[in-house]
Amino acid sequence: MRSINKTVKKLTIEESERPVTIQIYGRFIDSMVEAAKIVEEVQPDFIDINFGCPVKRVAAKGAGAGMLRDVPLMGEMAKQIVQAVKIPVTAKTRLGWDCENIIIDDVAERLQDVGISALAIHGRTRSQMYKGEADWEPIARVKQNPRIKIPIIGNGDIDSPQKVKEAFERYGVDGVMIGRAVRGNPWAARAGRELRYGHAGNGEARRPAASGHRLRMDRAVLSGTPFRFAGPGPVRPVHPRGVPVPRGLV
Ligand SMILES: Cc1cc2nc3c(=O)[nH]c(=O)nc-3n(C[C@H](O)[C@H](O)[C@H](O)COP(=O)(O)O)c2cc1C
Repeated sequence: MRSINKTVKKLTIEESERPVTIQIYGRFIDSMVEAAKIVEEVQPDFIDINFGCPVKRVAAKGAGAGMLRDVPLMGEMAKQIVQAVKIPVTAKTRLGWDCENIIIDDVAERLQDVGISALAIHGRTRSQMYKGEADWEPIARVKQNPRIKIPIIGNGDIDSPQKVKEAFERYGVDGVMIGRAVRGNPWAARAGRELRYGHAGNGEARRPAASGHRLRMDRAVLSGTPFRFAGPGPVRPVHPRGVPVPRGLV
């Protein structure tokens, strides 16, 4: 990968795009650590580990959501990646492999304990893929766990400003991630922010977002980046190893 110019070019980050995260996935610890080191060279603000991808060619081989079937391996992988790089490492995952195995409570604790800086949780299992409704109760439970100190970003079915509001107020998350609803409407989250922070009564975006904002958002969505738009008094969590988590993540 280091020698492939096209790939390196794809990884070039413009300052106007920050904060930027680069997401990696895989099933082998050594290659994931190596990938994290390569990614660190292009200086993103974060590295995100994808423990949630459900597609067969990924999950069935043990990568992405496949890691939910081997939580000790997931923990060890996250630990070694955190130790290998200097920038904050975040993770994204699902509730569990299937509805008989909702293991997110354990997963969240383990990932926090090995130094993951923030966790995005999609309220579905791997078996659900993208079907049915996302279940936010387990996300709220993780957030309410007194042991959990890292930011928890909720994800799943957010498609209106009202749902953004509900995510914060009812489920208590530190941030929301919007996936499919942003496709073709990248400023949808802006309306959510305006509703949340009281800047827009009707929850409708009054104007398209600035292009830099759209670019960041597109990149966030494409890579599954956890994000929350800063409002008054933004939270500034600190990475367990003392690295401040840049503004923009939560
Ligand atoms: C076409 C497509 C591609 C996706 N790619 C990624 C990805 O690369 N990384 C990731 O973490 N999530 C990815 N996701 C999952 C979304 O980030 C999100 O978790 C999921 O769509 C649920 O959120 P939503 O209900 O708001 O869409 C993808 C989803 C879709 C539909």
